[in-house]
Amino acid sequence: MRTEAEYRQLINENLEAQLHSLGDIPEKLREAMCYSLLAGGKRLRPLLLLAACETAGGAAEQVLPFACALEMIHTYSLIHDDLPGMDNDDLRRGRPTNHKVFGEGLAILAGDGLLNAAMEIALKASLGMADLRGLRAAEALARHAGVTGMIAGQTMDVTMEGSAPTPELVSYIHAHKTADLLQAPVEMGLILAGAGEPELALARVYGFHLGLAFQIMDDILDVTGDPAILGKNTGMDEKKLTWVALRGVDGAREDLAEHIRQAVDTLSEMPWDTSFLEEITWENLSRVS
Ligand code: IPE
Ligand code: IPE
Ligand code: MG
Ligand code: MG
Ligand code: MG
Repeated sequence: MRTEAEYRQLINENLEAQLHSLGDIPEKLREAMCYSLLAGGKRLRPLLLLAACETAGGAAEQVLPFACALEMIHTYSLIHDDLPGMDNDDLRRGRPTNHKVFGEGLAILAGDGLLNAAMEIALKASLGMADLRGLRAAEALARHAGVTGMIAGQTMDVTMEGSAPTPELVSYIHAHKTADLLQAPVEMGLILAGAGEPELALARVYGFHLGLAFQIMDDILDVTGDPAILGKNTGMDEKKLTWVALRGVDGAREDLAEHIRQAVDTLSEMPWDTSFLEEITWENLSRVS
């Protein structure tokens, strides 16, 4: 196993190369896609994919296309999330948002481009495999990112803005807009390592609690965080159906701790040494205490 920093380096080195492998992309489109993709996010999702795969006995080098594909889909979701018709944000990953620099038309296309490039990269990698693991991982990626997954959550987030926060509605939004894209890497990493269904079920439970905790933390940071550290503006969620709107900051902190505890408990039920995944969980979810 590498360190977190070494895995991040491996991911960063491969993102552009994976895009390049697709052939000639119109210069303006490539520039808009790379502006957001290479701006340097935390890379939590591809890190989890590589770590989950190696935890279950696989090799990171062999699944890099899938890790890069997932980060491309996450980046597309951020570009579209920031558009004026969605959250209307002007700062992301420490830079002006994509549409502020390239205009809305090209920002929409950069998002579409990253989504399609991701599926092309994952499917192409699958075609080179002797068994169905790659295809099953690509299916999991499409499902978690899709109309019953991330897009379903974003739909409720955007269309129910301003309505009363109920536990059912806020839980649905968080489970899908965020937890789906955190279940994807663990599920995909285990599929690619050849794990069986009982372990995949545990991966989904772990990813669910991790995802809930991650979005609860994000909602708290919108109230208490520092834009200079976050790389995005705070105080943007006033009309949003956030966990803070539902439970207040203190209640949200309690629920955050509970979801982290359940995530770590779920890891301990897996039949491998999950200490590295546990470390990633603590490291990445302790930005508020
Ligand atoms: C932001 O995700 C969107 C949420 C689900 C809260 P990250 O906080 O992982 O963003 P980056 O990738 O580090 O920019
Ligand atoms: C974004 O949730 C989730 C996705 C992009 C899928 P938020 O709207 O809370 O994320 P930030 O705060 O803009 O990063
Ligand atoms: Mg949003
Ligand atoms: Mg947003
Ligand atoms: Mg947010």
